[in-house]
Amino acid sequence: MKKILAITLCAVMLLTSVLAFASCGETKAKVEVFTEYELTAESYAFAIAKGNDELKTAANDLLAELSETGELNKIINSFFDGTATFAYTNPVSTVPTGADKENYLVVATNAYFPPFEYYEGSKLSGVDMKIASLLADKLGKTLYINDMDFDTIITSVMNGESDIGMAGMTVNETRLELVDFTTEYYESAQVLIAREDDSVFADCKSAEDIENVLKKQGKDFIVGTQNGTTGFMYTAGDADFGYDGYKNLETKSYTTGALAVLDLANGKINAVIIDKQPAIMIAESTNK
Ligand code: ARG
Repeated sequence: MKKILAITLCAVMLLTSVLAFASCGETKAKVEVFTEYELTAESYAFAIAKGNDELKTAANDLLAELSETGELNKIINSFFDGTATFAYTNPVSTVPTGADKENYLVVATNAYFPPFEYYEGSKLSGVDMKIASLLADKLGKTLYINDMDFDTIITSVMNGESDIGMAGMTVNETRLELVDFTTEYYESAQVLIAREDDSVFADCKSAEDIENVLKKQGKDFIVGTQNGTTGFMYTAGDADFGYDGYKNLETKSYTTGALAVLDLANGKINAVIIDKQPAIMIAESTNK
């Protein structure tokens, strides 16, 4: 009797590990964005070192011109609907420094955030990159795009390595203590991405419903976010931002949103919280 039990137990264990292995990585599920349910309200602006009023004025003048002429909306729409053609290659391979730096507008970004900044092959594209090129033109300087991890952008602007941060960056109090921001040029929100075949959020009909489902999860429920972003602060909690966060569940940070969504599709995590338009675009390319 004991032997039969042991054999059955062994068989069950073998079967579950085979099933677990098969479900991991092998089958990539489709992901779905809950676009209608906005979990936060945020505005993007460009980050400039405190005291660099010359650059701030130039950037604000450009943004005012672009919005008065309707050009800003045209640029944004063209990257949203994929009709934009702008793509840029840096003319030099390393960040300009020293005396040479005067000739350049060095823009800090994290180019894994479509449609605001992303790679098209080896070229850089996106709403912010297009505006960056217009700003460089206005200043009579050559554009150098300094791609880096999102959570190092503010430091790079503060220590003068980069002149300006253009990265779909949300204005908030914590960041305002470190850098100045230009005029706000885009309104955004955090949204949730889940697997299409996952029923956890199926009955949600509002942002509040999503929040209530999140509040009910345990530590085995993992939400992916990008390092240093407001999506992380919203999910993990941040007193300065007035976000309680979800201490009941596990928040995981990734270097890019796309890596988080890939883990979601592969069943390694349960949801991703990220800015709305990037969510739509990243989900679209992950589902291909
Ligand atoms: N808006 C969010 C924030 O400011 C996310 C920005 C991420 N941007 C990027 N280029 N990866 O925290």
